[in-house]
Amino acid sequence: MFKLPEFNFTKASFLSEETIQYHYGKHHNAYIEKLNNLMEGLPPKDILEIIRDSDGALYNNAAQSWNHTFYWMGLTPSPSSLNLNSLLEKSIKEQFGSESGLKEKFVESALKVFGSGWTWLALDMQGKKIEIINTSNADVIDFKKYMPLLICDIWEHAYYIDYRNSRSNYLAEFWTAINWKFVEDNFENKDQAKVGKLLMT
Ligand SMILES: [Fe+2]
Repeated sequence: MFKLPEFNFTKASFLSEETIQYHYGKHHNAYIEKLNNLMEGLPPKDILEIIRDSDGALYNNAAQSWNHTFYWMGLTPSPSSLNLNSLLEKSIKEQFGSESGLKEKFVESALKVFGSGWTWLALDMQGKKIEIINTSNADVIDFKKYMPLLICDIWEHAYYIDYRNSRSNYLAEFWTAINWKFVEDNFENKDQAKVGKLLMT
């Protein structure tokens, strides 16, 4: 069984209480409830195993449960900045010139998502390179190839209440609420199991 994890984002400055109520309390919660219903009578599995081994409704609800959990984990209600001496900062500088160079590419990519989907910041396990990847609907990136660092929800339900049709305004504000400590930890420790641990009852 999986549960809706608790987060310290309720005062996330760029989202209204109403958005949090709907996005977290209804959408995210519904994915987890559906996942639990679909798993009834099946052998228990870790969320990453379900994502890896299934398709259809089971895949969609497992992936959306994972994606949303990772999304909230990447946000913070208090100001956070990229640690200037971190390995992550060094890598961002090498590849994108600066944090604002990375932001520009990330936003550019997120604006290209047609319909619903996700924009990811991910570390290529082989090349030690940071990549920006778009996925559609519930789709996740290839976890064998990449360690996810950060994710942004590009479904309209993530921003329509607060930003109406302006995805670009939403993205600009999203960037101000990034939990850089979380991104750094993903970059350095590459622990893909931590989302699953939070989701376990
Ligand atoms: Fe969402």
